[in-house]
Order: sequence, then C-alpha cells, then structure tokens
Amino acid sequence: MRASEVRQKFFDFFKSKEHVIVPSAPMVVKNDPTLMFTNAGMNQFKDIFLGNREPAAPRVADAQKCLRVSGKHNDLEEVGHDTYHHTMFEMLGNWSFGDYFKKEAIDWAWEFLTGELNVDKERLYATVFEGDASDGVERDEEAAQCWQQYLPEERILNGNKKDNFWEMGESGPCGPCSEIHIDLRSEEERLKKGGHELVNKDHPEVIEIWNLVFIQYNRKSSGELTSLPQKHVDTGMGFERLCRVLQKKSSNYDTDIFLPLIQQIASLTNVKYGASNDGDVAMRVIADHIRTIAFSIADGQLPSNNKAGYVIRRILRRAVRYAYTFLNVRKPFLSGLLPVLIDVMGDAYPELKSQKELIQKVIHEEEESFLKTLATGIALLDKIIAETLKGEYKVVDGKVAFELYDTFGFPLDLTELILSEKGW
Ligand code: ALA
Repeated sequence: MRASEVRQKFFDFFKSKEHVIVPSAPMVVKNDPTLMFTNAGMNQFKDIFLGNREPAAPRVADAQKCLRVSGKHNDLEEVGHDTYHHTMFEMLGNWSFGDYFKKEAIDWAWEFLTGELNVDKERLYATVFEGDASDGVERDEEAAQCWQQYLPEERILNGNKKDNFWEMGESGPCGPCSEIHIDLRSEEERLKKGGHELVNKDHPEVIEIWNLVFIQYNRKSSGELTSLPQKHVDTGMGFERLCRVLQKKSSNYDTDIFLPLIQQIASLTNVKYGASNDGDVAMRVIADHIRTIAFSIADGQLPSNNKAGYVIRRILRRAVRYAYTFLNVRKPFLSGLLPVLIDVMGDAYPELKSQKELIQKVIHEEEESFLKTLATGIALLDKIIAETLKGEYKVVDGKVAFELYDTFGFPLDLTELILSEKGW
C-alpha cells in the first residue's frame, strides 16, 4: 500500500468514527515559549486540554508534521545511524476533547490496525502505565482491561514513567499512555526469543508504532501534577514506521517515502546505496534532513544564527558535512533533492510547491557558504598539521581546534575525524 493511501485510509477510518479531519499545524511554533518546534500532534490542542479554548469539534484527526531535534524529545543522534528515527516525521493522530476515552481509543486503534490494515495480530504488543508513587498515579488497570479483549496477558506489558507517562515538555498537559509495539522479526528469531523481552529495548525490528495518551493532568512548572477539568485522548502513530510495516520493509528508508530521495542522492553523488556503511548512513541522514530543512523554510523558519533558525542551520550543515565527508560532495547539491521531495509529499503538503523557489534558493546559498567554510577550515588545518609535524608529537592543541570552530565555523568533529584518519 502506497504511503499516500495509508494516510487517506487513516483519515477515512476516523471520519467514519465521526472525527473532523483538520490540517497539520505549522512545524515551527511561534506562540508558545515552552516550545521551538511542533514535537507532537497534540501541541496545537494544548489550550483545549487546559480548558482555555473551546474545541471546534469534540473529535478530530490529522497528520501532523513534527520535529524532534531539541528539548524533551530529541532523536537527532539516532537519525541515519538507525533505520526508524527521524528529525521530521508525520504523526497520525486522533483526538477526543472531553468526549470518548480509553475504551474507544483502544478499540479503534485495534480495529484500524488489524481490521482495516490487516496487520498481523500475533506480532502486536501493548504497554500500560505501571504507576508512579512520587506522582501519586496508580497502574492503568482500565487500559490493561481494555487490551485483555484483544491480547493475551503475556503481550500486555507494564511500562515505567519514562515510556508510559507522556509529557510534551517540562510543563503542560500530560497523562498515562498505552503504546502499541510490533515485532517484525522473522519466525525463526521470534521462536528463539519472545518479543515481550524486546519491547522498548531499542531493537530495530521491535518498534513502537502508536501511542495512545490519556490526557488527565497538567504538569505545572513547579513539577506538581494537577487534574484537568476534563479527560481527553491524544494519539500519535509514526506514519513512516506504519508504512514500513505495511510495505514489508526492514527500514523506513526503503519505503516509498524515502527511497526516491535515497535514489536521487545516489544519482547526484554517484555513490551506490548499500556500497558502504558510512555512505549509507550519510544518505539516510541527508534524506532525513532535507525534509526538515524544506518544511522549516516553507513554514517561515529560515536558517539563522540564533534560536530555531540556528537549529535549522545546524541540521543543514550536518547534512552538508555527511555529504562532504562520506559522499565526496564538493559542490552544492541538496536543493537538487527538492523536486523529488515535492513529488513524494507535495500533494499532502502543498506549501512545498508554493514555496519551492524560496526553499531552493535558501538551501543553495547556505550550502555554498558552508562548503566555503569547510574548504577554508581544511586548508587551515592542513597548515597546522604541517607545522605540528616539525615537532615531536602528533597532537593538535585543543585550543586550536576550538579556534577553528569558534572563529571559522569549522566543526569540531570534522577536525577530530581528519586527525584520527591520520592516526593522530
Ligand atoms: N502525544 C503522543 C506522542 O507524541 C501521542 O507520542
């Protein structure tokens, strides 16, 4: 099933359950001091949960552009090195604002996955909150009972506060959650070891796909939990992971969401995907980061020297660095990925099409200027290395590395890489 059909099926299913389909909020947050980027589907509904705003409808669903690169939810370091974390991703969500609660949320999640999408029931696991004495919250018996209709006891697992009590940041609406995980290992592997031992253990084939959050509390900035006037449902399903499951791939990057990007990177750099581990990681990093960069610019956040703009600049530079170091790229090429990205995502997110020229221009200029920085830094480092070779030790002073970074913008890890490749 193509990714665009999966997204549509989700909308159609929740429409049939009387949900109003609403658009994604921008990925860049302008009016919440606790947040730079949208890190979850529920951000745009925060004021409704807190009772400060009336909802337009009691049940809504959407696909939300999310970015997890700062603050409480930050996946940046995993991206590209594994096959299922992203900086920008789409979160499919359904919400109840003081309307239905745990039973319907669980029933419909199960019905959608196993009824509509035919996901193998035997591979699914659910987690429920085990409770936390310091917060005075008990085990989520209600959610556990709902799951008992569908899953045997050994596939309903307790989870701790880190995994099963969802919070958007240090403060804000929150509550216990129940996650759905899937075991995608081969029959043989599954017989050797039960999937229950691998849930929430960073196994690349036993992954979370959907989080059902039961919003009941507000975490104040003092850390205290207070009960909200009403109970709400906030769910979030990883769209790219779901597509991977349905397309029977072992990596999100092999789905029709990412593969066209990977192929374009391979063609522009003349490097084959699969040729080397470093090259593959680099291609995944770039395929991931181009989405973040393009969507941020489309949402009005240009790369800059501070705050959200600096986060975007760093992500763009990270993509350039990986291309430079592992794919031998010396000329700007990232903007050449934009037409492919628009092909893949432009129908669902028309802002990519309408802002195409601006996105292309900004990326090209940023990339060009950073490539110059890299060339200058490398020339300086070469001189330093030549000087150092006259002495006794093959060591570059940390102060020099810092100056390269601080004065010339040359990344510390690149200095490290160049020196370590020389055995220094
Ligand atoms: N808000 C929940 C999450 O982001 C659904 O995981």
